[in-house]
Amino acid sequence: MYKILRRKQLNDTVVRLDVEAPFIAKKAKAGQFIILRIDERGERMPLTIADTNAEEGSVSIIFQIVGQTTMLLSQMKEGDFLLDFVGPLGAATEFGDIKKACVIGGGVGNAIAYPSAKALFNMGVDVDVIAGFRSKDIVILEDEYKEVCNRLFITTDDGTYGEKGFVTNKLQDLIDAGNNYDLVIAIGPIPMMKFVSKVTEPYNIKTLVSLNPIMIDGTGMCGGCRVTVGGEIKFACVDGPDFDGHQVDYDELMKRNSTYREFEAHDRENCRMYKAADEMGGAK
Ligand SMILES: Cc1cc2nc3c(=O)[nH]c(=O)nc-3n(C[C@H](O)[C@H](O)[C@H](O)COP(=O)(O)OP(=O)(O)OC[C@H]3O[C@@H](n4cnc5c(N)ncnc54)[C@H](O)[C@@H]3O)c2cc1C
Ligand code: FES
Repeated sequence: MYKILRRKQLNDTVVRLDVEAPFIAKKAKAGQFIILRIDERGERMPLTIADTNAEEGSVSIIFQIVGQTTMLLSQMKEGDFLLDFVGPLGAATEFGDIKKACVIGGGVGNAIAYPSAKALFNMGVDVDVIAGFRSKDIVILEDEYKEVCNRLFITTDDGTYGEKGFVTNKLQDLIDAGNNYDLVIAIGPIPMMKFVSKVTEPYNIKTLVSLNPIMIDGTGMCGGCRVTVGGEIKFACVDGPDFDGHQVDYDELMKRNSTYREFEAHDRENCRMYKAADEMGGAK
């Protein structure tokens, strides 16, 4: 059993939990993830290791409430226990020998991008971060990013905070201004990763994206997380989740991720937590 040490609400739908898991805290590297189960009837849910504290023996996860399991997890409190918390899973991000990087996060994807920015900064790399959100009220990790990058640019789609526009506009501006990035890391919604990769392709800038296909076992056995990269079949849980952004078949990934949408909507409709939240005026 894995004890929840701290719980923090980062915005209306995003929660951070610090979980006691000393082995994972010692071994985890940027890019890796865990799979958890709340209880014996629970779904297996992959979440990225957002941060670790090896001294305390804790692992931080940051998640957005999108369905039944994330809703149930968001209702857990300090001192509660998770049944399973397995990791570190997946391949650690291979940054290569680089001098200047741009790390780009979109929405809750910033929770997944943050450990890469931190690892690169600690390696002595000159790190720019572009953190994009729909609007001011959902901005997360601003203070944390400031500690692990040379320059932080926040963009909002509606212009309520930072610069108005998409992360791709800001990236193009930075490239046009003469920033010679050896590496761009883009993590967020699939269309965002696709379009960031389109911006960097003409400049031959190495671009890594973190893919989020449906995962079940997380050990390369079930085939659920199959993605096509450079015309080859890969399993995101063991070959990734990071891949060359210029080689990913994004359209296939989007199609596969929507396979269970009807079941998820049904689950959501029947989830008692959602009903309770709706009666209180919306899922918080
Ligand atoms: C390697 C990896 C790392 C991830 N890291 C994070 C993270 O740090 N923070 C975060 O908020 N989310 C992360 N996700 C997505 C997260 O796993 C899903 O949001 C979660 O499983 C949704 O479960 P649910 O029951 O609440 O929603 P559901 O209603 O079941 O599903 C909502 C959506 O979540 C996705 N999803 C559902 N089940 C799975 C599954 N078993 N595997 C992958 N995706 C699923 C699908 O896109 C689905 O349409 C990650 C996914 C992967 C594959
Ligand atoms: S989750 Fe089963 S093969 Fe990747």
